[in-house]
This record gives sequence, C-alpha cells and structure tokens, in this order.
Amino acid sequence: MNRLICFLFALTVCLISIPTFAVTASVNIQNFLFSPNVLTINLGDSVKWLNKDDITHSITQDSNLWTHDANPGSSFTRQFNTEGSYSYHCRFHPSMTGKVVVRNAEQTRIKIGQDIVTVPPKVLPITLNLKGKIANTVYLGSYIVNAQSGCANCHSCPTYAVGHNPYKKEVKQFNARTYLAGGVSIKGVVSANLTPDKTGKPAGLTLAQFKTLLRTGHDPDVPGQLLPVMPWPFFGMMSDHDLDAIYSYLSSIPKAVTPTKACVLGQ
Ligand code: HEC
Repeated sequence: MNRLICFLFALTVCLISIPTFAVTASVNIQNFLFSPNVLTINLGDSVKWLNKDDITHSITQDSNLWTHDANPGSSFTRQFNTEGSYSYHCRFHPSMTGKVVVRNAEQTRIKIGQDIVTVPPKVLPITLNLKGKIANTVYLGSYIVNAQSGCANCHSCPTYAVGHNPYKKEVKQFNARTYLAGGVSIKGVVSANLTPDKTGKPAGLTLAQFKTLLRTGHDPDVPGQLLPVMPWPFFGMMSDHDLDAIYSYLSSIPKAVTPTKACVLGQ
C-alpha cells in the first residue's frame, strides 16, 4: 500500500513537473475538438496530437505545411523549430480548428527562467522581488544564471536542498535558504555572497562595477588583483543586454547570510 502511495506520489510529481521544461506538449482530439485549442510552446518543443475519437481526423496546417491523418487511438508528433503561429484544422471536419504558437528564442529563455522560480514544484523555491523591475528582464537573468552559467554551483552552500541532490539521483531542487550567498571553497578561495545588500545592490556592487568585474576580473574592493577562480573570462563575453539581465535578477533574489561553515564545490 505504502509503495502504491509512493508510486502515485512520484507520478504526480512527474506530471506536475512536466510544464516546467516540457519538450513534448499534448493536444487531445476528442468530441470533434482540438484541446487545448490554442497551445503556446517554447522554441524547439514538440506537440503530440492524440486522437481519442472513434473516427479518423487529420491535423492539417492551414497552408499545408504539414498534414497527417490520425486513425482512432493513434497519435502524431511534430517538432517546432521556427517561431510563429501555426493554424491547423481537420481536413475531414473543417469546423475543427486549432493553433500552435511557438515562442521566439528570447521569449523561450524568459519563459524557462520564469518557470524555474514559479512553476510548482519549484526547482528554485525563492520569491523574487520584482518591485521597480522589468519582470521579463529578471526572468531572462534567471535563465542565464540558473540554466546557463551555473552560478549556484559555486555560489550556493550547499548548492542543492537536502534530499534533492541530482548527483545522488534525487529529484533536483536548489537550496533556497542560502541561495547565492557564497561560502563555497574552491582551490582555497571562498566564493562571494551575491545576494542584495542593505541598499539592494547585489554583492554590494553597482551595475557599472558589476559589469567591470565580469568583463575584466577586477574586484573594485581589491585594486590591482584579478579574481583567481571566478570564470569572468567567459562571462565577460556576454552582451550588455545579458549582463543587465543577470544584475536585475540578482537584485531581485532574497537577501541571505553566508554560511559560516564553507562547503565543497558541487555539494
Ligand atoms: C567556478 C565557480 C564559479 C562560478 C561558476 C561563478 N563564480 Fe562568481 N566567484 C567565484 C569565486 C571563487 C569568487 C571569489 C573571487 C575569486 O577568487 O574568484 C567569485 C566572485 C564573484 C563576484 C565578486 C563579488 C565580490 O564582491 O567580490 C561576483 C559579482 C560573482 N562572482 C558573480 C558570479 C555570477 C553572476 C556568476 C554566474 C553568472 C558566477 N559568479 C559564477 C566562483 C564562481
């Protein structure tokens, strides 16, 4: 019985987590309807149509970009690698219509960055302070920081919540309590606290100081010395637009105190 409950729980978690980084979204064909009727997906995602009626339907793009006849009980999957709006219908029952909207690359990054911190069960259970900020810029920053740059790998101590370490085959969840508060020891250097200070500045840096630090490796507090561990030679190649987004995101995360006991990288 317990096992069944565990299984059902695991299944529920799986089902709930699908919307976050879905790569295949589903459309049911039932009662002569495409449902959901309008489906918005990320660039590169796929859509799977499943015919639940006991009659053949087709999924035919309005200008015949694709067409597929789906027998009862069968499905059809198509990947979307170009942004845009794709209207389709059933060629046997033309009153049946539907639409797939594919986000562009930037919108896709923003959506994933948003999902990381908002869609349950949250991969990163923090609440962002969006006051005075452009939400999409913050979410783009979330994408760059969390999905592309691995800042939490070196700046969160520990990186993952207890029982949620993906390296131990556990369901991944970032440690929210000391998220990006530093304290990770790498080659004898301890990573810095990136969370906002009393005045709201991430790591106590102005936007200009932050950009200079990432572009040149010069810490404004320690003139003449280069940061020895921080991968600034890589991050420094980002566009100003992306560095603005990172800064905006770091300004919106909760303030946290650096743990006194240093962590080892990746734990
Ligand atoms: C490979 C580990 C690593 C990664 C990944 C990393 N950092 Fe760092 N970072 C460090 C370490 C260690 C320091 C302490 C200074 C040093 O010696 O490099 C540091 C320092 C900093 C500082 C200077 C803070 C101060 O006031 O002294 C900032 C800002 C910073 N990191 C931002 C980031 C951001 C933003 C990301 C992700 C885009 C990131 N770091 C990713 C290791 C890392």
